[in-house]
Amino acid sequence: MPSLKLDVRVSTVGTPDLVTFFVKGSPLPPGVPASEFDGATCATVLLRDKNQRTLVVGLGDKDKIEPDTLRRAAGAGIKHLLKLGSTEIALDLTVYADHVGPAIEGAILASYKFEGFGKDPAKKSRGTLARLQVLVKENEVTVARVQARDAEIVANISNAMRDIGNLPGNMLTPAILAEKAQELAKSRALTVKIWNERHLARDGFGGILAVGKGSTNPPRLIVLEYRGGGKRETPIALVGKAVTFDTGGISIKPGAAMDEMKWDKMGGLAVLGIMLAAADLKLPLNLIGLIPSAENMPGPDAYRPGDIITTRDGKTIEVLNTDAEGRIILADAIAHARLTYKPSAIIEYSTLTGAVIMALGHRRAGLFTSDNNLQAAFITAGRSTGELVWALPVDEEYKEGIQSEVATVKNIGPREGSACVSASFVKTWAEETPFVHFDIAGVAWTTKPPAHLEGGATGFGIRLTLAALRAGLPV
Ligand code: BES
Ligand code: ZN
Ligand code: ZN
Repeated sequence: MPSLKLDVRVSTVGTPDLVTFFVKGSPLPPGVPASEFDGATCATVLLRDKNQRTLVVGLGDKDKIEPDTLRRAAGAGIKHLLKLGSTEIALDLTVYADHVGPAIEGAILASYKFEGFGKDPAKKSRGTLARLQVLVKENEVTVARVQARDAEIVANISNAMRDIGNLPGNMLTPAILAEKAQELAKSRALTVKIWNERHLARDGFGGILAVGKGSTNPPRLIVLEYRGGGKRETPIALVGKAVTFDTGGISIKPGAAMDEMKWDKMGGLAVLGIMLAAADLKLPLNLIGLIPSAENMPGPDAYRPGDIITTRDGKTIEVLNTDAEGRIILADAIAHARLTYKPSAIIEYSTLTGAVIMALGHRRAGLFTSDNNLQAAFITAGRSTGELVWALPVDEEYKEGIQSEVATVKNIGPREGSACVSASFVKTWAEETPFVHFDIAGVAWTTKPPAHLEGGATGFGIRLTLAALRAGLPV
């Protein structure tokens, strides 16, 4: 990842290109006709003055400006100028010092683009943000620098997770993901343990093994520990689905857009990103990150419909569709979190169902919990970070749909309400531990990017959770 020079100051030094912000209804910049620019959020107009480019970005109505407005507007401005070839950009935040953090996050997130492989190397450096200056008033510099540092940590880690997320299935197997996690944890206050197939079999992880069996790329369980809190303080467990590629297995998926299933690992990368950032931000709490990872493939050794699997805590699953694999690997990881760490809460992220996309589309993730306080905390964090969530039910009644004649539960229920039924499936393994499930299937990547982001993996969940943790989760 290219390194970015970021500084907060009171005037620009050597940065010809500037992003300024504009509130709807203010006097238009000289020479800009009203027909060209209305100041709507993320609308842009370019002013040229000799060798300086100034891009004016709309913020919409004054009374509707929120942190996320600045985040998106800064992103839209940066993306626009990068396309024009700028590499050094200043953000004028002299009247928005409260929003320095979000604006920097937006800028750094907008500057990320998956490079791919085999493209002309000369083209690669174009569109790369080398230097970002943030302009504030003199008496705001000190506070702004603290905000800037935190925002930079979070945005850079999000981009690093997006970059791993955008790797295709042949380049990112469960073993490679485990190596990357180890590599990234090495320089931080994090410990990592990796379970390979032998360890998984020894410790009874029948779910992860079953899902991984069809692939020649064997499964892994990655467990990260961060101890930033007191020795006796109960940890919070974070669990993320990392299916490095989901063909559906024997219950194979149709061909259309199957390539998008390389992003079926984004729940796991959300957890990895949160753990890395928690360590860098030195959050005063204890966290355990669990990332079950497998590739779901058909093959002579693949698990099949009808199979009965025993998971880590002895509960059994009747497999009726091998494409409902995420919940099977999550079952093992959630049980392991509960039995080994007795956490105060288990928060889980997964691209679990197509059904949640039917319910909520691509703007909000599904939030499933029966804990009202945790629900409120994440809704608030969603608003402040722009990673929006919407609460959907996980009542006991949804469990009716997964009652099995031959096992604890079966892995699919009726099509109706399938996002809720799936949530109640994974919740089964949390037992009495307060539990939150995020179904991020609609938001983990984007193929129709907005003005402030490139397409591909979004890193959804990282900023949301860090905001909730920093505000203090009610556990
Ligand atoms: N990874 C998919 C869910 C998914 C689908 C995410 C589309 C993003 C976009 C998951 O493993 C899956 O295949 N779920 C099935 C479950 C069904 C077989 C009960 C689904 O949602 O169709
Ligand atoms: Zn699937
Ligand atoms: Zn899947």
